[in-house]
Amino acid sequence: MADHSRFQSHVGEQRFELLVNAVTDYALYMLDAEGYVATWNPGARRFKGYEPEEIIGRHFSQFFTDEDRAAGVPQRALKTAATEGKFECEGWRVRKDGTRMWVHAVIDPIRGDEGELIGFAKITRDITERRNAHIELEEARAALFQSQKLQALGELTGGIAHDFNNLMTVIRGSADLLRRDDLPEEKRRRYLDAIVETADRASTLTGQLLAFSRRQKLNPEVADLNMRLDAFGDVLERTLGSRIAVTLDLAPSLWMTEVDPTQLETALLNAAINARDAMPDGGSLTFRTCNASEAEGDFVCIEITDTGEGMPEEVLGRVFEPFFTTKPVGKGTGLGLSQIHGFAAQSGGRSEIHSVPGEGTSLRIFLPRVEKEMTPATSESHRPTRGEGRVLLVEDNDHVRDFAEHLLADLGYEVLSAASGEEALALLEKERVDVVFSDVVMPELSGLGLARIVAERYPGLPVVLATGYSEEIVEGAAGELEILSKPYGAETLGAALARALGVRDE
Ligand SMILES: Nc1ncnc2c1ncn2[C@@H]1O[C@H](COP(=O)(O)OP(=O)(O)OP(=O)(O)O)[C@@H](O)[C@H]1O
Ligand SMILES: [Mg+2]
Repeated sequence: MADHSRFQSHVGEQRFELLVNAVTDYALYMLDAEGYVATWNPGARRFKGYEPEEIIGRHFSQFFTDEDRAAGVPQRALKTAATEGKFECEGWRVRKDGTRMWVHAVIDPIRGDEGELIGFAKITRDITERRNAHIELEEARAALFQSQKLQALGELTGGIAHDFNNLMTVIRGSADLLRRDDLPEEKRRRYLDAIVETADRASTLTGQLLAFSRRQKLNPEVADLNMRLDAFGDVLERTLGSRIAVTLDLAPSLWMTEVDPTQLETALLNAAINARDAMPDGGSLTFRTCNASEAEGDFVCIEITDTGEGMPEEVLGRVFEPFFTTKPVGKGTGLGLSQIHGFAAQSGGRSEIHSVPGEGTSLRIFLPRVEKEMTPATSESHRPTRGEGRVLLVEDNDHVRDFAEHLLADLGYEVLSAASGEEALALLEKERVDVVFSDVVMPELSGLGLARIVAERYPGLPVVLATGYSEEIVEGAAGELEILSKPYGAETLGAALARALGVRDE
């Protein structure tokens, strides 16, 4: 019996040796407890370059780079293997000829019957080529990304230039015509209207661009989307005409969310107009709301589904890009979905679009759930348009300052103006004012800096800031500041000043 089992084990050892010797892709060898090489297989010989007699008895730290050896990496590897039962890593190793290879290495401790450490089993694989291929792939990807980015930037710049040129042509042309002395009143009015209308279009355009870049100044309110959609239904039906049937499918017990109502309406309208364009022969458009619990959190979802022409894969992949449009010149700007995308992201949610050619398109907007009370509707009675009092206007741009002076005077205010924050502070020392109205971005002292100094030196004096961006105001928004988005008109300016003055009276 005993002989038989010894025979068996002998055959087992032979087989095992055959196996180890057959493996040429892996270096399979043993180390003694101190890290000296005890066995060596053909795989190890093949890619480390040493014959067994050259390496057996040498310390395995020889395979490491000088830096790793100096840093004590080989000793640490053995220690980790001994204490934790395994060591695994990727790193540089050195071949006999001095060249480097990138390997994946595993070290397992070998223990005797009593649990004492006898040595280590080491398995190493040369993965230099795989690593190089991976790096090359990453480099190719980065290059592609860079060129796509440049192409997208080119389209974006071209789009903006094109649209602004058109708008400027109208403004410039109208202004030239207005110069004529003999212009009949009716024509004068028409050119002025054209200028105002065009400027409004320009500001819609910059609004959409800011929305896409997620820098739109948002005034979020806690809202019930069901109520918003219900209220918006009329506008939608009027926009879409009678050939498109609008259905609202509103989920009961919908969660609250926090959004800027104007941006939300713009998004809904953009989606509705896209649907209308996709259904030239009519169809149906459904607005569905639902609660959506996801790994990232709870969201309220609006799904807008049309039965239109849908779009092919290559269009679908690009629809959120600014200025990407398939519509003829003059019909589409390619900013509708960009606005939706930016608005959803800036609100803490996201947007996605699904489409089947010939069947229709479904756009989903996810907005984060909030557990707050609904914001009460602002009452209109708080918005007197005629003002009274002294406004200190601070604006570094001569044209804007000139314009704002007129606007303020028209609103009934007495105006003092300063071209910089420093000038404003000097004026405040001599003059009594009721409210400071300042631009945010100015060289030297910014509007926010000015507001801080005013709050310190003249507590209770209200400050209204005007800005084209949202980021700049984040810091100051915490305080009692009234913030106005640029471009502003008489109505919004009047309302902001009235609110600021009202705050002080309380
Ligand atoms: N509901 C839809 N069905 C089919 N195609 C759509 C739909 N919505 C968007 N698209 C496609 O996506 C493109 C981009 O849409 P987006 O709203 O961003 O720009 P636009 O509608 O072309 O122009 P704009 O909205 O600025 O007037 C459209 O030109 C159209 O090809
Ligand atoms: Mg559109």
